[in-house]
Amino acid sequence: MPQRPVLRYGDPRLHQVSSPVEDFSPGRLAPLLRDLWDTMQARGGVGIAAPQIGEFVRVVVFGMEFSARYPDAPAIPRTVLVNPRIEPLDDVREEGWEGCLSVPGMRGLVPRFRHVRYTGRDEHGETVTREVDGFHARVVQHECDHLDGILYPMRIRDLTQFGFEDELARSGRAGGQAA
Ligand code: NI
Repeated sequence: MPQRPVLRYGDPRLHQVSSPVEDFSPGRLAPLLRDLWDTMQARGGVGIAAPQIGEFVRVVVFGMEFSARYPDAPAIPRTVLVNPRIEPLDDVREEGWEGCLSVPGMRGLVPRFRHVRYTGRDEHGETVTREVDGFHARVVQHECDHLDGILYPMRIRDLTQFGFEDELARSGRAGGQAA
């Protein structure tokens, strides 16, 4: 089952808090990860969280070399993060345009911490730690929010800065970030 249906905003399951992964035995996460990558790539996203395909475990994947959806975005290494934790490294937040595979066709201007450290495990249970900023930091915050049932529209401060991407583009907004 490579590409899976993506739950859409309005589905109450997207607001569930997902459970930590405890079993890292070999191959255990492989089918889930394969479905996440396939679904993300088929839809042109730069990241996806397990609950978006109806699996309520704390697993996200993200990364891309080039995204047609986000042509100006810098590359992000392909990353699997299990049971992630994010720590802001200062108080600076930046507004940036985001979209989400669960909110198709729309974009919104979302504040995120500019500079964060994230820690989690990869599919083998090995620790992953990185300090990142900008777009990379935005993507990881967006994806990890899904694990706590938070979608980006819930973080928008000014709802005049939320709408359909073609309308926003018509008025010169929404270059876009995240997924
Ligand atoms: Ni999303």
